[in-house]
Amino acid sequence: MTGTTGTALGAPAERREGRQKVTGAARYAAEYTLPGRAHAWPVPAAIAHGRVTSVDTSAALALPGVLAVLTPGDAPRLAEPEDHTLALLQNPKVPHRGWCVALAVADTLETARAAARAVRVHYAPEPHDVTLVPGHPDAYEPEEAGGQPGRLEQGDPAAAYAAAEVRLDVTYRVPPLHNHPMEPHASTAHWDGDRLTVYTSSQGGSTVRSVLAGMFELPEDHVTAVTEHVGGGFGSKGTPRPDVVLAALAARRTGRPVTVAYPRRHLPTTVGHRAPTVQRLRLGARPDGRLTALLHEVTTHTSRVREFVEQAALPSRVMYATPALLSTHRVTALDVPSPSWMRAPGEAPGMYALESAMDELADALGIDPVELRLRNEPDREPGSGKPFSSRSLVACLREGARRFDWDGRDPRPGTRREGPWLTGTGVAAATYPAAAQPSAAAARALPDGTFTIRINATDIGTGARTVLAQIAADTLGAPLDRVRVEIGHSDLPYAWLAGGSMGTASWGWPVHDACAELASRLAAHPGPLPAEGIETRADTTGKADADSPYAKHAFGAHFAEVAVDTVTGELRVRRLLGVYAAGRILNARTARSQFTGAMVMGLGMALTEHSTLDPAFGDFPEADLASYHVPVHADVPDIEAHWIEEDDPHLNPMGSKGIGEIGIVGTAAALGNAVHHATGIRFRELPLTPDRILAGLLSEG
Ligand code: MOS
Repeated sequence: MTGTTGTALGAPAERREGRQKVTGAARYAAEYTLPGRAHAWPVPAAIAHGRVTSVDTSAALALPGVLAVLTPGDAPRLAEPEDHTLALLQNPKVPHRGWCVALAVADTLETARAAARAVRVHYAPEPHDVTLVPGHPDAYEPEEAGGQPGRLEQGDPAAAYAAAEVRLDVTYRVPPLHNHPMEPHASTAHWDGDRLTVYTSSQGGSTVRSVLAGMFELPEDHVTAVTEHVGGGFGSKGTPRPDVVLAALAARRTGRPVTVAYPRRHLPTTVGHRAPTVQRLRLGARPDGRLTALLHEVTTHTSRVREFVEQAALPSRVMYATPALLSTHRVTALDVPSPSWMRAPGEAPGMYALESAMDELADALGIDPVELRLRNEPDREPGSGKPFSSRSLVACLREGARRFDWDGRDPRPGTRREGPWLTGTGVAAATYPAAAQPSAAAARALPDGTFTIRINATDIGTGARTVLAQIAADTLGAPLDRVRVEIGHSDLPYAWLAGGSMGTASWGWPVHDACAELASRLAAHPGPLPAEGIETRADTTGKADADSPYAKHAFGAHFAEVAVDTVTGELRVRRLLGVYAAGRILNARTARSQFTGAMVMGLGMALTEHSTLDPAFGDFPEADLASYHVPVHADVPDIEAHWIEEDDPHLNPMGSKGIGEIGIVGTAAALGNAVHHATGIRFRELPLTPDRILAGLLSEG
């Protein structure tokens, strides 16, 4: 789609760095082989709670090629970071198993690993508690969850529920989940005097720079963060993780460039996880299906290092009209690794529970589950009372039902047999907030008729370079192949991270503004351009983050068909369909990839993915991709994503809503609802593994 003017936006442009990636030419953080580059390997704590009493490094230091072993007693001192998961090797406390208690640095990766294993750490252990239970004596209601109040109460939910003609009181459970991006977290650091450069696998280089500058007490312009290519993150690289701090510490100690490339086994305790949730849903309704009370109470955990609340009750403030609403979180700080963001934090588990409960209500009332949702469509956002900037959930449900051939579905559960298989279909809604954050960009026109866009955006595999070029070309009225895009370097204008499905909106906005200004400057410029060209800059501070009178969210609908093997408990997904409404879709190819990729992740959440907090040791036994099963090709069926274009003037100059996360939201509920339709059994705990399904089938039989 090059060579045409004014048609770049929306086109299915190919990823600009695709060839580099498939040929191996794209460089990732651990692949910066600077002269003299050394490797560091962390030593994870072997206890879940307590402190380090001594570290014997003599055997490690005796190995040929070992440069240093950093310990809590002798590592360079750091200023206290806001995120205490980064206060590494600063004191002897062990807040959870897997916490870094020493760091071996050596000439080669193999020697560093051998040295880490030769380090002898002695501990004073204390009792630990890693078990999430509702009603835990230390549970408290957090002030905030995902930037919103932890608790929202409207009307008299308890009384409204007690008085409801139809009542449903159900509890759903989602286990700890891990992001496991394709590229494990890695950083290469080197010091030049008091200047620090890091090549790091992160969703946001601007934050890496400011956090490192704070911790190492440097002016920000003495820190350079390069994030040129990033092999996925799903939230686990949203903010700097221990690898970049450890690499900088080791490089400072040894005077050599140092790479810390986490082996996958270290990720579960080190880079965050989706915290487990126990979610009680109480729905009160009239016989016609209209809700009279919605109570969504979430119990979750955080670590002792920092408070992170999986904001799973938030979608209940967005989805359905109800005169009485309770949406609350209760959290307990346990001796667990720190939870963090994972794709659609809050919405993914929260909508699993809410949309499963809505299906149960539809079943109890004998109302079609699509119809039940239509009857509860609100005219304003329930939690805030604000009008929606646009909301096309009804259109998504109707279009999905049409494409899936939903009408005429036999609602009776457990009645469709094909030999040993029982088959069924299910539906669930999806939602995700649409927002933007302040960012800055520069646009330059050159005398040869080309343009350069500069912004410290990060492409974590989404196609950021590509869509920013499209936005620029469209605004400039220039052919797409005349536009170069420079991203992934902290010397470029400041940009928000690739997170919260806000990347394209946050970056595209200043790119658009800079290009609009440049276009008018060019229109007014007679004759050839000067050799250095003409540059314009834009900054959306105060604009992208301004309070809005509108509630802004993307919506979607998921439809699923499953087959359940009644002999083995095996669950096969036959069809998965998503229909989304997310403003204007800016690149049809990469958008489809985001939607379907997230649906695959939702399929994993429903069927196979789970981590377990081992009560004896205090961390996760599922520490590799053999035991933490993410979907592979054989698991993924016929999968389709479609969208309904919205014309929403209240978003940003492109009219786009974020699309990175909504695909995971509701997918697990649609699959679980299909399993109920197939089997007649309501499973209320993920994932739907064969052992659980078989146990359910046997106890029903
Ligand atoms: Mo996403 S979990 O906001 O990176």
